Amino acid sequence: MSYPTDKWATGLVEVYRERFSAWADRPIRLLEIGIDRGGSLLFWADLFRHPQAAIIGLDLQPPPGPWPDRVKALAGDQNDRRRLSQIAQEHGPFDLIIDDGSHFARETRHCFETLYGPALKVGGCYVIEDWAVGYWRGRDARYVGMVEFVAELLQRAPQLSMSAVAISLKPGQAYALFEKGATGWQA
Ligand SMILES: C[S@@+](CC[C@H](N)C(=O)[O-])C[C@H]1O[C@@H](n2cnc3c(N)ncnc32)[C@H](O)[C@@H]1O
Repeated sequence: MSYPTDKWATGLVEVYRERFSAWADRPIRLLEIGIDRGGSLLFWADLFRHPQAAIIGLDLQPPPGPWPDRVKALAGDQNDRRRLSQIAQEHGPFDLIIDDGSHFARETRHCFETLYGPALKVGGCYVIEDWAVGYWRGRDARYVGMVEFVAELLQRAPQLSMSAVAISLKPGQAYALFEKGATGWQA
């Protein structure tokens, strides 16, 4: 099945299938920031097929659906920390958080700082998609800082209890994935 998402064309669908198919039958809770046409939410719902799995999307203007039972498309701004915390309280904690929203540095940072600590389960993963926009100096000033933010997260890995990191720079597949471990550690 193909999905109306650019994750299909870029091959990210395959990357995620390979990485997360072991979770397919678990009642996982997922939050994706950035819904666009909704194709990625349909993809996640097909991948995570446990009847109690929860697939939550957030967008400034979510498309109307209809959505499968386990999918909810919520309205909100990823820059609004109060809204993010409210969503985390109502629908979290999450096994998987994917930031595929604005890709602006400020928004990306706000989301991470609000969600990674309180709303991501131990053993869960936080993915920042398209972080390589930070190399596109001059295209949009709001992208500046993305590369530095990902580098900063690598520096903070011990304090953030990260147990694994995967960084890709492939065209269309530039994602940074951070897995949360049980405890912090000494560098
Ligand atoms: C790249 S698209 C998402 C694609 C989708 N995840 C997929 O894979 O098909 C980015 C989306 O982020 C949304 N967006 C941009 N800024 C946002 C913000 N500040 N808060 C929430 N959503 C935002 C846009 O409306 C757009 O739908």
